[in-house]
Amino acid sequence: MAARINTSLHNALSLLNPFNTPLNTKPFTCRNSFRFSKKLPYYSQSSSGKRALYCTSSSQESTVDGADTFVLTTPLYYVNAPPHMGSAYTTIAADSIARFQRLLGKKVIFITGTDEHGEKIATSAAASGRNPAEHCDLISQSYRTLWKDLDIAYDKFIRTTDPKHEAIVKEFYARVFANGDIYRADYEGLYCVNCEEYKDEKELLENNCCPVHQAPCVARKEDNYFFALSKYQKPLEDILAQNPRFVQPSYRLNEVQSWIKSGLRDFSISRALVDWGIPVPDDNKQTIYVWFDALLGYISALTEDNKQQNLETAVSLGWPASLHLIGKDILRFHAVYWPAMLMSAGLNLPKMVFGHGFLTKDGMKMGKSLGNTLEPLELVKKFGPDAVRYFFLREVEFGNDGDYSEDRFIKIVNAHLANTIGNLLNRTLGLLKKNCESTLVVDSTIAAEGVPLKDTVEKLVEKARTNYENLSLSSACEAVLEIGNAGNTYMDQRAPWFLFKQGGVSAEEAAKDLVIILEVMRVIAVALSPVAPCLSLKIYSQLGYSVDQFNSITWSDTKWGGLKEGQVMEQASPVFARIELNPEKEEEENKPKVGKKTGKAKVKVVDQTPTVAEA
Ligand code: MSP
Repeated sequence: MAARINTSLHNALSLLNPFNTPLNTKPFTCRNSFRFSKKLPYYSQSSSGKRALYCTSSSQESTVDGADTFVLTTPLYYVNAPPHMGSAYTTIAADSIARFQRLLGKKVIFITGTDEHGEKIATSAAASGRNPAEHCDLISQSYRTLWKDLDIAYDKFIRTTDPKHEAIVKEFYARVFANGDIYRADYEGLYCVNCEEYKDEKELLENNCCPVHQAPCVARKEDNYFFALSKYQKPLEDILAQNPRFVQPSYRLNEVQSWIKSGLRDFSISRALVDWGIPVPDDNKQTIYVWFDALLGYISALTEDNKQQNLETAVSLGWPASLHLIGKDILRFHAVYWPAMLMSAGLNLPKMVFGHGFLTKDGMKMGKSLGNTLEPLELVKKFGPDAVRYFFLREVEFGNDGDYSEDRFIKIVNAHLANTIGNLLNRTLGLLKKNCESTLVVDSTIAAEGVPLKDTVEKLVEKARTNYENLSLSSACEAVLEIGNAGNTYMDQRAPWFLFKQGGVSAEEAAKDLVIILEVMRVIAVALSPVAPCLSLKIYSQLGYSVDQFNSITWSDTKWGGLKEGQVMEQASPVFARIELNPEKEEEENKPKVGKKTGKAKVKVVDQTPTVAEA
């Protein structure tokens, strides 16, 4: 069955002005009879002809009250079920980017929240025996709790059931209507409730199954309000051509361009059969489509409680967003529908939409609807937030899909965080205590004179910065780890424990070596802080800094030379607990392998034994 939109004169008349407000009404438009004004509002003229006004510069920052502002968003998560590792993944990535931007000195507004309306949520509330509002309160809170456990430092948390959000959605709807982009029509098509989207038959699997959720779509016929997306085909094409960095990674841009090229169809922005939603202005029989509602959360989140809350004020507080971080499954909504909606309302477009890949389990997207999820809370309880954050950002190239395996998880965090970083600090502090009363004998700048390691570290720091800026989070982690590797190599080559034994000038050299390695650790702490903030704080504390000092670090603190003569270090204590496979599992690991392993690794986290003396 192909989707059909049928407009009628009756429908048309009922739409003339649903608000009864003296809007700048344009002639009623429908899919086949749009009337464009000669000069579309989303274009400006320049000497070189038509120029898109909305997609701004390639720079991601805007200025609010004179400050360099970086506004980034995660999707607003559906509250049909508590969060799983897939939802946590976007938020961890966003938090790391936000922390990095704060280190650069930007005023960051990091927005997250929950998407609480629509059929999917109403159905899950009913299934759990709760009324929708109670259900939303409960599940929305479970997101906040997880974010706390994962050290997510968001600035704004918006719920789409918040009255201030509702007011902004209605105002936005009015603007789009006033621009002549909303009309009424019958619609017939196949609907995936999990995606909350009408699907094209050709994109479905056998038995009309949705390829993402593997569940059959249902046939629906409704009388709805439509948004005239097709009117924005050309403007969208132009914007993408002129701002190729708007959609990232670049291979997702091709996907978006090909959707647009294949022809944009208007989409329905109201539901007649769903009560749980924001009523369509002047038509209480319909509610606003959950996506048309939720996308506005990126703007309503900017409002401040107890202050005037209208679209104009919200926009003045930080719009346009610098970056929307999303999963690839919701790219069409963010890179096609949303920009068109914004153009229609006369608002600026976000500067970048980044569509990351999926965390998969056995090759399938991990998800609440498929029920093959990984519990982030369990992982955090077992391994701590730093390990979880580091593993997913380091292991999965940001943009690509990545499969989770517990064995791999343990291997990576043990090798990188416990060994390369934790052990190096531990060994160095142990030697410093034994030989220098835990006190630095010289400034790190003086200690490193003529030592090539300093240049290596500086180059790697620069590499990490560039990668963070380009959202290549895995490569950023890799660059920081390379600093740790360089520090370990230096330690092994110099063998300060041996030099101390020789005494005299050799011992003096050894004391300088320790300063150099501790400076390396300090640089690592700053450069890794966006990804593993707790671990970084522990390192910083052991280097003799206060929490306040750590909280005021900036990226410029990655510059060599922070540690000074006379600074007293803390006692060596493990900053990252090594995860030990339990004996049962180890025994199994050591058996000759026959066929495929199916068992899960049983693990216990043990305190790393401080390795104080000889390395
Ligand atoms: N409510 C909408 C978003 C509205 S934004 C205005 C929604 N919610 S969701 O809860 O279903 O998904 C939220 C995000 O989680 C999406 O970006 C989605 O891609 C991401 N993930 C859900 N499962 C995922 C994985 N298994 N792996 C990685 N990310 C995944 O869509």
